[in-house]
Amino acid sequence: MGTEKSDTLIHDVPAGWARRAHADAAKYSSMYASSVSTPDAFWAEHGKRIDWIKPFTKVKNTSFAPGKVSIKWFEDGTTNVAMNCIDRHLARRAGQVAIIWEGDDPAESRHITYAELHDQVCRFANVLKSHGVKKGDTVTIYLPMIPEAAYAMLACARIGAVHSIVFGGFSPDALAGRIEGCQSKVLVTADEGLRGGRKVPLKVNADDALKKVAGIVKTMIVVKRTGGGIDWVDGRDVWYADEVAKASADCAPVEMNAEDPLFLLYTSGSTGAPKGVVHSTGGYLVFASMTHQYVFDYHDGDIYWCTADVGWVTGHSYIVYGPLANGATTLMFEGIPNYPSTSRFWQVVDKHKVNIFYTAPTAIRSLMGAGEEPVKQTSRASLRLLGSVGEPINPEAWDWYHRVVGDGRCPIVDTWWQTETGGILISPLPGATALKPGSATLPFFGVMPEVVDASGAVLTGACEGNLVIADSWPGQMRTVYGDHERFMQTYFATYPGKYFTGDGCRRDADGYYWITGRVDDVINVSGHRMGTAEVESALVAHQKVSEAAVVGFPHDIKGQGIYAYVTLMSDAEPSGELRKELVAWVRKEIGPIAAPDVIQFAPGLPKTRSGKIMRRILRKIAEDEVGALGDTSTLADPAVVDDLIKNRHSQK
Ligand code: WT7
Repeated sequence: MGTEKSDTLIHDVPAGWARRAHADAAKYSSMYASSVSTPDAFWAEHGKRIDWIKPFTKVKNTSFAPGKVSIKWFEDGTTNVAMNCIDRHLARRAGQVAIIWEGDDPAESRHITYAELHDQVCRFANVLKSHGVKKGDTVTIYLPMIPEAAYAMLACARIGAVHSIVFGGFSPDALAGRIEGCQSKVLVTADEGLRGGRKVPLKVNADDALKKVAGIVKTMIVVKRTGGGIDWVDGRDVWYADEVAKASADCAPVEMNAEDPLFLLYTSGSTGAPKGVVHSTGGYLVFASMTHQYVFDYHDGDIYWCTADVGWVTGHSYIVYGPLANGATTLMFEGIPNYPSTSRFWQVVDKHKVNIFYTAPTAIRSLMGAGEEPVKQTSRASLRLLGSVGEPINPEAWDWYHRVVGDGRCPIVDTWWQTETGGILISPLPGATALKPGSATLPFFGVMPEVVDASGAVLTGACEGNLVIADSWPGQMRTVYGDHERFMQTYFATYPGKYFTGDGCRRDADGYYWITGRVDDVINVSGHRMGTAEVESALVAHQKVSEAAVVGFPHDIKGQGIYAYVTLMSDAEPSGELRKELVAWVRKEIGPIAAPDVIQFAPGLPKTRSGKIMRRILRKIAEDEVGALGDTSTLADPAVVDDLIKNRHSQK
């Protein structure tokens, strides 16, 4: 990043394109200025983009003050998210397709209209009620990418239940921890998932998880996806289809306060177990829908496809809530980019005439590896806009995405945000913002980024430091589930009075933001967030491991890979076999996304005299930058480092 080429402004939006866009440069500037100078007036106006049952009279009531962090938006308004995502569209759009579902198998796809969505969601809401789910209860959802995932989310929203989605790639242990964390009485899962022609044993995993946390889940609702053989617990397990068939298609949306929680979503941090990020009803929906409209320049009739999984926040905000609140047609894809071939994404684009396509740099880089041919075999003529999310996009990948996938015709929106932010905070608005490959460019309306140095001093002009946000925006998380103290500690203690993102960033002379990656002990593997502490605790839970330290290192496809330094018990011998066993162990403990790419057996770890592991040194060794280890004078035993350097990246 920061090369001459990537600093060049590219004004690449065709004139016709820009004319049609929701914003141009002047409109962006004036709207942004009013959004930060008079946030109450700005959001009072834009808060009306959703329907309210009882209109709000108050807009912003937020404080980042140390020890007193409190975030409320539209606090006296009432509404319902399912009503906004479905019912309010019925008058005009009952027959319009809400969800295009594209199966793992290219021969399988379905079109679900808003009328059908209404029917399915109402029925499933009644199913949840019949199993005792009430307003404020949590429901855990562990589903593959099938329409039932969206139905289940919206059914929860309809009756005021709080959903907690657990990504289908997580292990039974990870699922169990998340069920225990929010005490869900109901779990919604499927017999098996299907990805790239392979089956994912969801019901088996769910059964395992429930053995670990017995007594919490009373009902497991199982969608039949593959029909594969599964065990059944009578009195606990019920088939989704049977229940839905019995249920009434009549279910009034429950009146919710703007500040009632809509969902929680567990995410990794630098310390401890993953925390439940809590998102609200009113502010979240206003922000998700507004960002979806402006950032993707969504217009009526557009076919929009976000390739994320609903198990991550991107799926929540930009497959389900944002698009459906806007009455959009949203595509939901069950499969993976390289099945049956590396043309799959582009074949799906052609098949469904996708106009707006939103994916992650890791997918672009892996497809780039297969060359241009698989792309060029397809037309992609319907594409108008491309989006990127999850990690910094390197200029080479940006260029390939722009030139090869978009035929040089489609602007790219590089969208920076986080699970905690609910929606996009820094991104170009296509048609309004001149693009620079590798830069997320400028803040969305109402977002006040600042770059600070280690002491918290606010830097001005062109600078590099840590990224904080100076004031609240409506989509911001409200608390950590059940632990407001942890919320304040994690996000507002490092730089008191400001929201600390955990990211480093550079601002250039044009005021553009360049996210440089995490500055805490979080690593970003293929756009998925992983706490190094979580991987470490999984490793030390193995009986042969005495100590472990995990860091990220640059990885061509994944962005960052997982590098684990492992010290064995004195009676254990390093071997290739043990290395494999440890990788399998972490997969089982957390899930495949946490599997270390490199395990280096380390006779000792570099520590200070007080016993603190010097991660800075471990990071440098993993990055292969052994000439720049920095100050090593506080090391208790410098010889340890020599051994680590000598055996780095050795997988013998
Ligand atoms: C972290 C948040 C919210 C979307 C999915 C990830 C990194 C995200 C970008 C981007 C550079 C990015 C940051 C952030 N990140 N988007 N466009 N450019 N970095 O959500 O799992 O909560 O991870 O992803 O490091 O802090 P998440």
